Amino acid sequence: KLTVKDLNVRGKRVLMRVDYNVPMEEKNGEMVINDATRIEETLPTLEYLIGQGAKIVLMAHLGRPKGTKEPTMSLRPVAKKLADLLGRPVAFVDDCIGEKAEKTANALQPGDVLVVENVRYYNEEEANDPVFAEKLAKLGDVYVNDAFGAAHRAHASTEGVARVITKRGGQAAAGLLMERELKFLGEELEKPARPFVVILGGAKVSDKIKVIDNLLDKADTILIGGAMTYTFRLALGKKVGKSLVEADKVDVAKAALDKAKAKGVQFLLPVDNTVATPVMTDKLNKKGKPIIDLTNPRTNSGLDIPDNEEGVDIGPETIKQYSDVISKAKTILWNGPMGIFEDPRFAEGSFAVGRAVAEATGKNGAKSIIGGGDSVKAVKKAKLGDKVTFMSTGGGASLEFLEGTVLPGVAVLNDK
Ligand code: 3PG
Repeated sequence: KLTVKDLNVRGKRVLMRVDYNVPMEEKNGEMVINDATRIEETLPTLEYLIGQGAKIVLMAHLGRPKGTKEPTMSLRPVAKKLADLLGRPVAFVDDCIGEKAEKTANALQPGDVLVVENVRYYNEEEANDPVFAEKLAKLGDVYVNDAFGAAHRAHASTEGVARVITKRGGQAAAGLLMERELKFLGEELEKPARPFVVILGGAKVSDKIKVIDNLLDKADTILIGGAMTYTFRLALGKKVGKSLVEADKVDVAKAALDKAKAKGVQFLLPVDNTVATPVMTDKLNKKGKPIIDLTNPRTNSGLDIPDNEEGVDIGPETIKQYSDVISKAKTILWNGPMGIFEDPRFAEGSFAVGRAVAEATGKNGAKSIIGGGDSVKAVKKAKLGDKVTFMSTGGGASLEFLEGTVLPGVAVLNDK
């Protein structure tokens, strides 16, 4: 794909889509950003464009306001944070289309940065409405997409607007973050240095089945963790106790095991687990459902879990086995935690896998790629973020990309 470095942007209005959908929290009546990674990761593209004398107009979504002007989902605090990070003023307009936005975009000087308000304040954004896309396109001469995390959405700001701009002769290119995401989650895994070890966790087989299927064509070894373990165990006729399972996905799990065998891919399931006894409390969660306490954590050796217990993490033997496999890898892809790592009692599996990945990266020069979402959270929580090769900023987008899907926000960009 064409990248921002292929464009001549001097003096031009660059309309750039970014994924500034950052976690926020209300504190003393103000929205505070809890994790600015997604903003920080766009700085290389922004600094490059500023250096080239581009006039930069940034558009993004925040949350899912569904066409309402939900004030807690305003991008104003994000624009402020961006100004802090860039160390230069960032203008903000409280609408992403219309006269005010257009006037401000037209008045920009080379090197200026403008953020326009949440595109999802309009229903037309998610509907990929062509008239709305035309209105957005009035803000730029060329289009850049640096929003890998939103590239699986065919929305007006990620897809429609690129069509409008290319149709009228403008270019549509990938930003530098987008380029890195496509390189590490894409090219690097197409021709990986071997052994190529994939670590897959998370709660549901149904979320990961297409990823498993796609990676069975590429990987040498797949290590399974997380609650999806128990659906595989059911498929093998084991007892899963009160563990989370998808009984209707047993056939799918069996098919994956068969494919692994046929392809000669080493497919490992945990050999032991941390288990706990779920106990219903009289406290209610936000949704009004009773909160379940996980009590009496212990190691359960073997594959059968007693009736009243639930698997919550991989166990010490599995950690040893997985760490050994990881230590020999030359390429590592990790997507999905090994257990309920948000609870410190059940974080060891994910943290230990994180340490093994970090060590293989540092010692053996393995390329380690963390495929976004919860696995990135686990790596950050274990303070290993600077010891891996790449952490994706995508959640759903990484997953769809790893399934082998062509993302609409990427497909629409010009080829080189
Ligand atoms: C994300 O946070 O994964 C992206 O910003 C996409 O958000 P969405 O799932 O609301 O489209």
